[in-house]
Amino acid sequence: MKRRNAIGLGTAGIAAAGAGFAAGRFWPATSEAAALDPNAEAIAFYGAHQAGILTPAQDRLHFAAFEVITADRDELIALLQAWTVAAARMCGGDYAGPGGAAGGDYYAPPDDTGEAQGLPASGLTLTIGFGPTLFTDADGVDRFGIADRLPEALRELPPFALDALDPAVSGGDLCVQACANDPQVAVHAIRNLARIGFGTVSQRWSQLGFGRTSSTSTAQSTPRNLMGFKDGTANLKAEDGDLLEKHLWVGADDGADWLTGGSYLVTRRIRMRVETWDRTTLAEQEEIFGRDKSEGAPLGATGEFDEPDFEAEADGVPVIAAKAHIRLAHPTMNGDARMLRRGYSFVDGSDNLGRLDAGLFFIAYQRDPEAGFIPVQRSLSENDVLNEYIEHTSSAIFACPPGVRDEDDWWGRALFT
Ligand code: HEM
Repeated sequence: MKRRNAIGLGTAGIAAAGAGFAAGRFWPATSEAAALDPNAEAIAFYGAHQAGILTPAQDRLHFAAFEVITADRDELIALLQAWTVAAARMCGGDYAGPGGAAGGDYYAPPDDTGEAQGLPASGLTLTIGFGPTLFTDADGVDRFGIADRLPEALRELPPFALDALDPAVSGGDLCVQACANDPQVAVHAIRNLARIGFGTVSQRWSQLGFGRTSSTSTAQSTPRNLMGFKDGTANLKAEDGDLLEKHLWVGADDGADWLTGGSYLVTRRIRMRVETWDRTTLAEQEEIFGRDKSEGAPLGATGEFDEPDFEAEADGVPVIAAKAHIRLAHPTMNGDARMLRRGYSFVDGSDNLGRLDAGLFFIAYQRDPEAGFIPVQRSLSENDVLNEYIEHTSSAIFACPPGVRDEDDWWGRALFT
């Protein structure tokens, strides 16, 4: 069995981060269980770009935002190194200790909380992002000696019309997006990273999601959101070639060398007034989106992937309404703005009026938020008829660094070295 070590981290580094993984411990590249299980679905952790962006959207999400509670730069670096080791192990579906699962060996506390024992990798991806507040605090103080590396584009998002944001569940110094096809695997991953970070970071807010509301590959069918419409039809997709360099990945000339090959992440928790929506007619719902509900075709067309004809009229009235969601969000309306949407549905119980606290946890990746999310959201927040049925309750922006190249690399190395 091939063995690898913990990317050469010294005991001091891991201990400083409060890591639960004993330094010097050797882990198998994949556990016996994962290697034997054809459904293991392990997704490569190492690569030029972080997994979890272009990866075909998995079915489940656990997204967490953290605050860094240490003022010690070395402790933060040690945490990022320890997180990288743990993330690589978990994404490989490796919950077994040195003896491997076949030998009945599993990591025991405090090295792992244990609830993923015996489960395959389940397509787990872990994607890290750095928020603007990691660089400078509210008083402009350079927290970790990286203020001069704050990218121009990593600014707090501007206020938008109708924002109803709760600051307690917005922002964050760090984020980790865990996506998997098994909710337990995603939850386990975030829980273990939080455990490793104890004393260095504290969890600020988190969000569970299900039923991906987007497809990020042409190989995937388009799922439906909680309003019952196909969502993700006109999304950027893995097969989009040059468009990805233009609209998704930060380029070498974009002014932040450490972020080349990374991407900006915007999250918005958007509550849906589903009970009100459910009382509207089919015709009204279709007019609001500008697509038919069953097939997902633009109004006036027949196929889901037909191009919308925004010029078409019937009896002097635009077939796709002037304020239809797909017209307002279309690249031609927003200076060719494009992003890769990767959101999830959520249902967080009910409120005290008996209404579902449900909606869309919107996630979008882009090369530059000023040329992606911001103009589109400005257009939608001011004009979209959908606003009668939704409310944005949380917002955050992060810069996601490029991928971890190999076992000597770690999340954020280019930023801190
Ligand atoms: C398209 C739903 C919020 C950006 C769509 C479509 C649906 C939809 C059903 C048509 C299918 C597709 O092409 O994916 C929703 C719902 C939202 C929401 C239910 C809120 C709860 C947003 C937000 C943004 C956004 C906040 C960005 C600021 C887009 C874009 C398109 C789109 C760029 C593709 C437009 C095109 O090129 O045709 N959305 N959306 N959406 N949406 Fe949204």
